[in-house]
Amino acid sequence: MSNPKQTIMASLLPLTTFTTTTRTKPNSTSSRRFKTFPKQTHRLKVSCNVVPDDNEKLLLVPETQNLILPKTSVDTLNVDRRNLLLGLGGLYSTVNFSSIPAAFASPITTPDISTCVPSKEGFNTNDSARSNECCPPAMSTTPKDFVFPKDTTIRVRPAAHRASAEYVAKYKAAIQAMRDLPDEHPHSFVQQAKIHCAYCNGGYSQIASGFPDKTLQIHNSWLFFPFHRWYLYFYERILGKLIDDPTFALPYWNWDVPSGMGVPAFFEEDGKKNPAFDAFRNVNHVSAAAIVDLDYNGSDSGATCLQQISTNLGAMYKQMVSNAADPLSFFGGEFRAGDDPYGNGDPSIGSIEAGCHTAVHRWVGNPRMLNNEDMGNFYSAGYDPLFYVHHANVDRMWKVWKDLGIPGHSEPTDPDWLNASYVFYDENEELVRVYNKDCVQIENLKYDFEVSPLPWFSSRPVAHNKISNTSSSSAEAVQKVPDVKFPVKLDKITKVLVKRPATKRSQADKEKASEQLVIKGIKFNAQNFVKFDVFVNDKDDVPASSASESEFVGSFAQLPHLHRHKKLMRSAARFGLTEVLEDIGAEDDEYILVTLVPKVGTEELTIDEIKVEFVPLK
Ligand code: C2O
Repeated sequence: MSNPKQTIMASLLPLTTFTTTTRTKPNSTSSRRFKTFPKQTHRLKVSCNVVPDDNEKLLLVPETQNLILPKTSVDTLNVDRRNLLLGLGGLYSTVNFSSIPAAFASPITTPDISTCVPSKEGFNTNDSARSNECCPPAMSTTPKDFVFPKDTTIRVRPAAHRASAEYVAKYKAAIQAMRDLPDEHPHSFVQQAKIHCAYCNGGYSQIASGFPDKTLQIHNSWLFFPFHRWYLYFYERILGKLIDDPTFALPYWNWDVPSGMGVPAFFEEDGKKNPAFDAFRNVNHVSAAAIVDLDYNGSDSGATCLQQISTNLGAMYKQMVSNAADPLSFFGGEFRAGDDPYGNGDPSIGSIEAGCHTAVHRWVGNPRMLNNEDMGNFYSAGYDPLFYVHHANVDRMWKVWKDLGIPGHSEPTDPDWLNASYVFYDENEELVRVYNKDCVQIENLKYDFEVSPLPWFSSRPVAHNKISNTSSSSAEAVQKVPDVKFPVKLDKITKVLVKRPATKRSQADKEKASEQLVIKGIKFNAQNFVKFDVFVNDKDDVPASSASESEFVGSFAQLPHLHRHKKLMRSAARFGLTEVLEDIGAEDDEYILVTLVPKVGTEELTIDEIKVEFVPLK
């Protein structure tokens, strides 16, 4: 088989230039559905605006690649499907889950919903219009088993910025119908928002797995992708049912292509009580002319439009390729029954979750609200219709990552991942229990994504420093860096020399194992928006500043997660080193120099350990 990376690149011609077009904005009026925060009158102007049609032409993607129906997306990328299906076929045919002894199996199990505890304690929501009592209505407490849908058509999720007027009208009608339901209805707008809060802000314990004192938390670990996939699956089917359209599919916010990097226009005020509009957003960012910052630090970077696009594409490359070589790095670390994100456990956060996912949340939330509602805080995020459209693209990233066909890009096979479960009210108002293992193949869930180009795939970052300047292997360089005592507090820029277990790795070594920088035991105030950046072998005191540069290996970022009386949270992060060391010419070095740059909310943050690990690639 030919190299999948090269084949894909060949199918995506390079992005060369951008159009600069202005778009007239719809009239803003004061009609709003919500109590609003005082309105800001100015909008941020950016120097270029990328318009869908022009840009698609610019990318030279043939017309036929724009809207392709299910499955062919893989063929479009010229990836050998046999390669993709191997792992799954083997898994399902050879592992018999019921034969795993109970004593060894400890998947996270969502308990009976009547045990849900409203999460309001510990929140400071005096200034917020959002309900924080987020438990589902207990219409029934015994969930039924999930049955795969028998739909005869596949719901194809369109890219929001390319959606037709007809589709947009349908989407708005569905959201309006959801808003019109009484709040207590399990399908109502408010109940859908509360699902997220209950699973994130301490609504459920691990009682069903035998640990009543431990909290169930679906962020920060390998539960992140599957939980949100299931959440959207039901949300989409509920919306379809409300407008009696069994083919209805959610749009996805295509923030990984330049033309889709603004908030999709139909989420803005349109002078007609737009149900997709939410008043709790950053007014400077909702304009379709503003480009999302996938490396958002909590304030505007001042980057030009083109710089921002290049940062975003570099960030996407890292999160989908160089920092996502294996399931652990992409999905996040193991989180089993008994693990405690507020105590002794520290599963690592996955590359997408810590990166673009968190950045988009915070970038959309309103900085003038006390808790950065809605999108900027987990408890309120589900109140913004954009949340689901953002997550539709996060969900798409899972599929795209797998379809890249790179060895190592496959789901975890651990039974505790496969058998972790959640409960939701389905489109028929019935409570169902769903398992991670049943959401792995979206064809079984009868939905797919309209195909969109992947310009980031050919945006591998480049070294900021000249290769000859970066070596940290000399005795001199090693001596210059003072010893760091762990746990180290990240209240200032911190440099740490880290020894590599092996150097001069051959191509075969690299194919066998991914070299990763692991930052463990990150303890932080869960009430804060937290972000720090990680650099490797950057000589400058003001390090490489853009995600489009190799030395900037990635970031650790968290939205506020607070729940009942628990303030400190623990996590960990992993960053791929294999390509970075190639890029900066440091493959022979015995040590790497790691620079941690605090960006926001890290005053109390401490780190227990930093090391280099080799993670086997299957
Ligand atoms: Cu559950 Cu984007 O978060």
